[in-house]
Amino acid sequence: MSRALDFLVKARPQAMGAYFQFLKDNGSRLEPKTRALISVITKVAVQTEAGLVQYARRAYDAGASGEEILDALLMAFPALGLHRVVWAVDVLIEHGFEGFGDTEEETPAPTPPGETLDVCALSALPERQAVKRTCDGRPLLLWREGERVRAYKAYCSHQGMELMASGLKGEHVVCAQHGWRFDLPEGRCARGERWSLTELPVSLRQGRVSVTWTD
Ligand code: FES
Repeated sequence: MSRALDFLVKARPQAMGAYFQFLKDNGSRLEPKTRALISVITKVAVQTEAGLVQYARRAYDAGASGEEILDALLMAFPALGLHRVVWAVDVLIEHGFEGFGDTEEETPAPTPPGETLDVCALSALPERQAVKRTCDGRPLLLWREGERVRAYKAYCSHQGMELMASGLKGEHVVCAQHGWRFDLPEGRCARGERWSLTELPVSLRQGRVSVTWTD
């Protein structure tokens, strides 16, 4: 639950309780996959990336395929319009959901743990500005100061949501799910050191930055 919903539940328990019960009752005659697909469409209608990712995951968990998610999106086309359908497909591709991506070549499996990712030239990284890159299916956050580069797994330490490029704000990245904030120079979470991002080993050779993806 988001911080805002947490707050509303505490501030208006009766109203919010009735609202959640209303949602639950109205979905009780539908099977989980249908419920999740409808929720996917509602998140596309209001264009909330974190919500779309969350409900797309639920749809997959409930047994939906990428084809079925695409069917649902295209069935809702008259209401969503082309720009929202394109936006949703972009998000699903960006997050690597099965069935979304290159239609001609198979998406390679992510680099196994322990293997080294060739990320980019050092000169391609801006100074003191957080950057997100996805290399061989692995999402990374990068921070450069001169010849020193730090790299982190781009996953939130709260509930594991991927940290999106849209959440980068100067030295920080903010998780789209519940708003946790991390500083990139150190990888620390504003909620405490124990929630720090997972840092990865970086090496520099001949002007290129490599990162080792660890477990
Ligand atoms: S998953 Fe909750 S703040 Fe990131």
